[in-house]
Amino acid sequence: MIRIGTVGTHWITQQLVEALALSQQYELAAVYSRHDQTAQAFAAKNHAQASYTDYATMLNDANLDVVYLASPNSLHFQQALAAIRHDISVIVEKPAVSNQGEMTALMAELAKHPHVRLLEAARNVHTPNFHALEKAVAALPTVQGATLTYMKYSSRYDNVLAGERPNVFTKEFSGGALQDLGVYPIYLAVALFGQPANVAYFPTLVATGADGKGIAILRYGDFDVTVNFGKTSNAYAWSEIYGLKETLALDSAGELTQVKAYAADGTAADLTQPDLPNPMLPEVTDFARLLQDPDDAQNAADYRRWLRWSQQVNQVLYDLRVSANLYFPADEN
Ligand SMILES: NC(=O)c1ccc[n+]([C@@H]2O[C@H](COP(=O)([O-])OP(=O)(O)OC[C@H]3O[C@@H](n4cnc5c(N)ncnc54)[C@H](OP(=O)(O)O)[C@@H]3O)[C@@H](O)[C@H]2O)c1
Repeated sequence: MIRIGTVGTHWITQQLVEALALSQQYELAAVYSRHDQTAQAFAAKNHAQASYTDYATMLNDANLDVVYLASPNSLHFQQALAAIRHDISVIVEKPAVSNQGEMTALMAELAKHPHVRLLEAARNVHTPNFHALEKAVAALPTVQGATLTYMKYSSRYDNVLAGERPNVFTKEFSGGALQDLGVYPIYLAVALFGQPANVAYFPTLVATGADGKGIAILRYGDFDVTVNFGKTSNAYAWSEIYGLKETLALDSAGELTQVKAYAADGTAADLTQPDLPNPMLPEVTDFARLLQDPDDAQNAADYRRWLRWSQQVNQVLYDLRVSANLYFPADEN
């Protein structure tokens, strides 16, 4: 069993813990919260072995194989760095870091700790539907572009409208639409088509100064991908990938719960895979096989691919922000 500790006690950590239980490959060794009462309540609810209010003490004392970081984005870097220095692998929520400087520093630390793995929790690219889509893209005679959409109204936008500054909508916490829901369609583009040659971002800012929604253009050698994402409105449009006469369609670039392939004659085949009991189950299952058998050739190849995606996505996110003159306090370090 893989001994895991968690950071953050919001709903995403609860969903992760439930996925871990379904996978039957992890034991919840420790939970961390800034507040004792929250730590103890989360630990009791999920039958964790221990709870901590000091992150360094958890890393020192809990005998962890891996830590899961679901803190605000700007905290990921220091928490990941500390875990790697303790020879503990890291599953970090997306986006893994705030900028490429932080990614470079993590890569340098990883080189000093060859047994440690850094895994970004980009759930959509671990799903059976993603694998079906990947296969269908490879079968297209050519790719002429894509439009990828993921936009969901965030309850925290109500707080922004009420004059508050929730973490996810602030630059101080490396938040905003691009860093949040925008990560998923960008992951999809990078995983399917590689790193774009040029990018441009056209954000719509909200009262906090962060981006609430936006449109990103990713320019590849001979086609473009248009990405439409946000947290201040809802989108119901399908995403599409254009072949020649063929088109692939997905219900949502973030949720990826339905995939269809339209043939040259316009007939549609449903490529959708069976429903998941928990959207995080595929990634925790993938990560478990890697952590348990890192030297297996397939696992090692998958890790190289995931780490490359992580680096490329974070470069794209940074380049998009630079194109829009959108900087974070974390960029100053
Ligand atoms: N994969 C997905 O589907 C998914 C979904 C949602 C979020 N996420 C990612 O998960 C991460 C957390 O997102 P979230 O919306 O849960 O963030 P959040 O609510 O702002 O904070 C998450 C946790 O961090 C701690 N925290 C909050 N404010 C803090 C502060 N000022 N300083 C230190 N710790 C603080 C809190 O835990 P304690 O009070 O217990 O310390 C909180 O439960 C982000 O990276 C986000 O992108 C992923």
